[in-house]
Amino acid sequence: MITHPHRLPERVRIVEVGPRDGLQNEPGPIIPTETKVELINRLADAGLSHIEAASFVSPKWVPQMGDAAEVMAAIQRVPGVAYAALAPNLKGCEGAVAAKVDEVAVFSAASEAFTRKNINCSIRESLERFEPVIQLARENGIRVRGYVSTVIGCPYAGDINPAQVAAVARDLVHMGCYEISLGDTIGVGTPLRVKKMLEAVEREVSIDKLAAHFHDTYGQALANLYAVMEEGLHVIDSSTAGLGGCPYAKGASGNVATEDVVYMLNGLGIESGVDLNKLVATGHWITGQLGRGNGSKVALAMGCAES
Ligand code: HMG
Ligand code: MG
Repeated sequence: MITHPHRLPERVRIVEVGPRDGLQNEPGPIIPTETKVELINRLADAGLSHIEAASFVSPKWVPQMGDAAEVMAAIQRVPGVAYAALAPNLKGCEGAVAAKVDEVAVFSAASEAFTRKNINCSIRESLERFEPVIQLARENGIRVRGYVSTVIGCPYAGDINPAQVAAVARDLVHMGCYEISLGDTIGVGTPLRVKKMLEAVEREVSIDKLAAHFHDTYGQALANLYAVMEEGLHVIDSSTAGLGGCPYAKGASGNVATEDVVYMLNGLGIESGVDLNKLVATGHWITGQLGRGNGSKVALAMGCAES
């Protein structure tokens, strides 16, 4: 007899991070601004209501995100869609505010070594830097999301103690982040481990303020998402065609593919508001533009629809 888990959510909000997490690490020439803009517009048309569109970081550190202001200026703003951008410091936040983003995201990590490689400071310093970021965003009526990276494992420090994740998540919420996205940056998690991590974080932060940001490096992301949904988590970060990785996390492959997440949610009867056919077409289109393979199994199975 099939036992139905009773705690799966009825609806999941997908945060599409492909235009940012997906493209930031793309090797080769700088992706044209028009391509980024078309990707974001297509994703909104496919029903994604929360899109991380750009990153106001140093172009020396992440050259692919160097045209964040141009991208934000050129996209078609669909009512009801939130367009977000990363900002690691006040300079980044000033750019994001000027670009009229709907949401700013600050990012730290549970690992000191990762934080140093990623944003060139300690975890404590990163939180201090975020204070004026959060203040400026709030003054401008912009909400702030917080990321905690390396919630399971770190490419430099190895296994991460869930208590460290919980402490950074708690601090970010106290500072004013409305939501904390828990990043399995190098995709090493397995279902029991992510549940244990979540259990520790939940002691400090309510599940309604948590999101799962799982990279699929070891092919575990869908299983891990199912595991955290069983605990009541209902916000999932994903990337069309499984684009992406992190320049400071060696071996990090793309985020879990949005197409694969939507297919799983559809099968579970969980609403996401996303049109899978349009999304699959978008994934094929962008991978064609980039000249790379499609990282979504669902997209490969459904074939190359008109794109
Ligand atoms: P730094 O070198 O220590 O900073 O970098 P600095 O303040 O000394 O500035 C150095 C130069 O950068 C200066 O320019 C600044 O003006 C400029 P120069 O005088 O040399 O010409 N600069 C900036 N330019 C544009 N926008 C800015 C900005 N800030 C300074 N905002 C810094 C510190 C944080 C800036 C740098 O380390 C950085 O930009 N890091 C970004 C790293 C990044 O984007 N990583 C990927 C995103 S995180 C991720 O992918 C994980 C996630 O997906 C979750 C998960 O998977 O776990 C979110
Ligand atoms: Mg990521």
